[in-house]
Amino acid sequence: MDLMQGLLTRRSVRKFTYEPVAKEDIIDMIKAAQYAPSAHNTQPWSFLVIDDKEALKDFRHLQRSALFAENAPLVILVCGDKNIAFSREKEGWSYLNIDCAAATENLLLAAHAKGLGACWCGAAPMTKPMTDIAERFKLPENIVPFAIVVIGHPAETPKQPENRFDENKIYWYHD
Ligand SMILES: Cc1cc2nc3c(=O)[nH]c(=O)nc-3n(C[C@H](O)[C@H](O)[C@H](O)COP(=O)(O)O)c2cc1C
Repeated sequence: MDLMQGLLTRRSVRKFTYEPVAKEDIIDMIKAAQYAPSAHNTQPWSFLVIDDKEALKDFRHLQRSALFAENAPLVILVCGDKNIAFSREKEGWSYLNIDCAAATENLLLAAHAKGLGACWCGAAPMTKPMTDIAERFKLPENIVPFAIVVIGHPAETPKQPENRFDENKIYWYHD
């Protein structure tokens, strides 16, 4: 698939067949995620692969908006490492979430390129789901959940938007 075509045709998929996702495809998607840009090239991400049926059902309680994970074969939990991200604690900022967002988008695009369906479900910056997920999956203290990416072979074909291109949101700077 041409990259530009992939960018324009990726849609969130929330219904999946029961077919499992091949391990090779899981590795490829995570590889794509790891090629994302990150501030100071810190690559502060890690990925928890969850395909256990009971664990997938738990997302219903961990993050309500990701409840359809219970009918999916796979979740890749994109996490960030607080200790690695480019940040300034004294100034109160960190690039952690921004870097993880870039990795998550790469993951979604790789899934699409493989003919898989995926949906980014938010964990960060919502404190309760972040805490509950970290507890449920026994994440180390420095590792924080960022996104719940639900993945599988698509059982729906979401409608493509009419046209998201909006010229009015482009401003051409001239002195
Ligand atoms: C930060 C973020 C959080 C999201 N959280 C959820 C979510 O919790 N549940 C869900 O079903 N979709 C979630 N989405 C998917 C959006 O609803 C979806 O991207 C949007 O409606 C546009 O549709 P598209 O992805 O098909 O272009 C999230 C997307 C982003 C970027």
